Amino acid sequence: MTSDMKYPTSLFSSNLKFDGENNAGGVLSIAGCSAEKLVKEYGSPLFVIDQADFYLRTNAWRSAISSAFGDSQLYYAAKSFISVEVAKWLKELKVGLDVCSGGELAVALAADFPAADIEFHGNNKSEVEITAAIKAGVGTIVIDSFDEISRVSKIAKELNKVQKIYLRLTPGVDAHTHEFISTAHEDVKFGFSIASGAALDAIEKCTAQSTLSLAGIHCHIGSQIFEVDGFKAAAQRLVGVLAIFRDKYSKELPELNIGGGYGIAYTKDETAIAPELVIPAIATVIKDECAKAKLSIPRISIEPGRAIVGPTTTTIYLVGTTKSVTLDSGAERRYVSVDGGMSDNIRPALYGATYSAFLANRTSSAKNISSRIVGKHCESGDILISEIDLPSDIKSGDLLAMPATGAYGRSMASNYNHIPRPAVVAVINGTARQILRRENEADLLNLDVVQAPRQLP
Ligand code: LLP
Repeated sequence: MTSDMKYPTSLFSSNLKFDGENNAGGVLSIAGCSAEKLVKEYGSPLFVIDQADFYLRTNAWRSAISSAFGDSQLYYAAKSFISVEVAKWLKELKVGLDVCSGGELAVALAADFPAADIEFHGNNKSEVEITAAIKAGVGTIVIDSFDEISRVSKIAKELNKVQKIYLRLTPGVDAHTHEFISTAHEDVKFGFSIASGAALDAIEKCTAQSTLSLAGIHCHIGSQIFEVDGFKAAAQRLVGVLAIFRDKYSKELPELNIGGGYGIAYTKDETAIAPELVIPAIATVIKDECAKAKLSIPRISIEPGRAIVGPTTTTIYLVGTTKSVTLDSGAERRYVSVDGGMSDNIRPALYGATYSAFLANRTSSAKNISSRIVGKHCESGDILISEIDLPSDIKSGDLLAMPATGAYGRSMASNYNHIPRPAVVAVINGTARQILRRENEADLLNLDVVQAPRQLP
């Protein structure tokens, strides 16, 4: 992204073209590939990822951080969405990768992602995962608990390695987001509290371990955050910890990771928080606080996931059955069922997340009526969009597109009701290729074991 290009802050991926207006539907294409043809080729539901948009957003966040701080690091949060192909894109883009499980690590390694640029997170990493990470040579392990200090140092010792680590701290700020995706208050499972003194105790314990090399501290205050104040308050408290460290140990911790959590637009009324706004605001706080404490500015890293991949992806659903109900108020509501639902997007059911959708294969001149988009699962709560105006003539065989589903959609997908998880297709310059194939029933049956019971040894 050049400096005169504006970061795209709407819910749409940059190369999405829709010839329709408002809620009247239209013909959708992404990066020159028509939604209708994509579904014909790859089936539905289908996640369509706009590859150039992914590159643009990664570059935008990286350039915001490097213009604010110079030498710095962007770690893409793999939990938002990862596949071997995406890990290859990130390798080509020369950014780091934040993984939080042995599975995510395996994807990165399968893509030959440089282990030194991997950061390993998680509040309960198993010994097997820690061993795999250290053996692979991951750059940094982010330690989350006292138990883990002993676990990681013991395993590093067995492997005869000194492991670079960060400590994940909870700065006690309220991120003003959904409770389930808020992570920096006191009563939370993640990290060491600064306020209680646990953070300082953890630092002391780590510095006493010869197999651990404490390089910095980390915090992630939550997700889908739009207010800059939470990020600023967290940064200020973390610099406070760096100053205490310097006073106590007469040396400085060289690195500070301020996590991800930057909010994106899911509906037309929302606007994403832009890197060129939030990063300089955080940088000012870090620089001012470091100047006050006479500290050198640490090497800064960030970990956006959703802000990179969220808006790149649009889900295309095929409409199936419809029905109308009369509400107590006398108003009519149309239920529009699609061929996916809570198994490919659990966010509405889990967080009350809101989305937008539109008719994507044709224009309609029918009047709009109040509609509810639901999935095909055996749950009344399988609602993708609770209330949306859609043309009244939407019928079986139509396509509905739902933008901004790239983050925590496919990555949180399940097989509820034995529904195979959808494919992901990457589109760029009029070409399409599958990067994750659709699951099939054989994949699901693969896990079934039919055997006689046996006594355990
Ligand atoms: N760093 C750490 C340590 C994290 O735990 C997370 C997200 C991120 C970075 C990336 O956050 P992002 O920039 O993507 O907001 N399933 C929820 C979100 C859970 C986020 C978990 N951690 C959702 O669908 O909203």
